[in-house]
Amino acid sequence: MYEILSELPIVKQSRQGKVRDMYDLGETVLMVTSDRISAFDVVFPDPIPGKGIILNQIAAYVFKTTSHIVPNHFISDKTEDYPEEFQPYKDYLEGRSMLVQKLRMIPVECIVRGYISGSAWNEYSHSGTVGGEVMPSGLKENQKLPQPIFTPSVKITEGHDINISYQEMLNHMDKFIAEFLRDKSLALYDYGYNFLLPKGIILADTKFEFGTKEGEILLADEALTPDSSRFWDLEAYNSGKGPVSFDKQIVRDYLESIGWNKKPPAPHLPEEIIDKALAKYRQIRDIFLGEQSKQ
Ligand SMILES: Nc1ncnc2c1ncn2[C@@H]1O[C@H](COP(=O)(O)OP(=O)(O)OP(=O)(O)O)[C@@H](O)[C@H]1O
Ligand SMILES: [Mg+2]
Repeated sequence: MYEILSELPIVKQSRQGKVRDMYDLGETVLMVTSDRISAFDVVFPDPIPGKGIILNQIAAYVFKTTSHIVPNHFISDKTEDYPEEFQPYKDYLEGRSMLVQKLRMIPVECIVRGYISGSAWNEYSHSGTVGGEVMPSGLKENQKLPQPIFTPSVKITEGHDINISYQEMLNHMDKFIAEFLRDKSLALYDYGYNFLLPKGIILADTKFEFGTKEGEILLADEALTPDSSRFWDLEAYNSGKGPVSFDKQIVRDYLESIGWNKKPPAPHLPEEIIDKALAKYRQIRDIFLGEQSKQ
């Protein structure tokens, strides 16, 4: 199903990421979100049917509603605006694709954390730091931080990310750019957090990517999706049961439970896990889009 566009001559200009297929159109890129799922940086053999549409809908919604915070790469998600050669595929592309500005990507993952979890918790429990910065002592796993923190990471060759400190980030780029990325990431996190909290969702942490074009820095990639964020159910969190996630945590938990060594090839996912994950993706989409998603 994902190779549907392979009949297109344009395929030679395409690049397949773990989840998205990017069609390079010169000044712009058609970004197609597949139903592939990756966890621990490995792509799974079984798709989550409909996941691509959900992710794309959330990202499009976020791009359309946050440009007052920072401009972004979004141009259109209406297939009629796409170049002629994509028109025969519009049924497939509808809902799961968007036309964006082609940017020179800044190779830093701009992570913002309001709660201490995942790799930040691992680091803190060993050294009392997150991204090399000292944190208050006595924090518990998944606890809310005194204020959201910016913890950038960079991709190393095998595709895995390593956390770097903001100071290290300053060694790699202009101070103006580093400050811009940090401040805009924190502002976007705040926006997402305040948007979701009254709807019963905690945005625990999230990742942004930025790129440049003609001297301007734009928000790119995806934003505030379940693939780039940890979403927790507020009620479950407050009841002390611990976080219940609306993202691919269900898949991650399953993988931990079977003791997979996190090296390819990835195991097949049972239907039950696929269904559960999809139900959570749908729930978060409905929370974001409200009535719109039921159209
Ligand atoms: N506007 C843009 N212009 C150019 N590249 C972009 C733009 N927005 C996102 N990208 C890049 O496109 C790719 C999206 O694909 P996907 O998210 O599936 O890849 P990934 O698995 O996260 O990353 P990769 O395959 O690069 O390791 C990412 O490499 C992302 O940095
Ligand atoms: Mg990605």
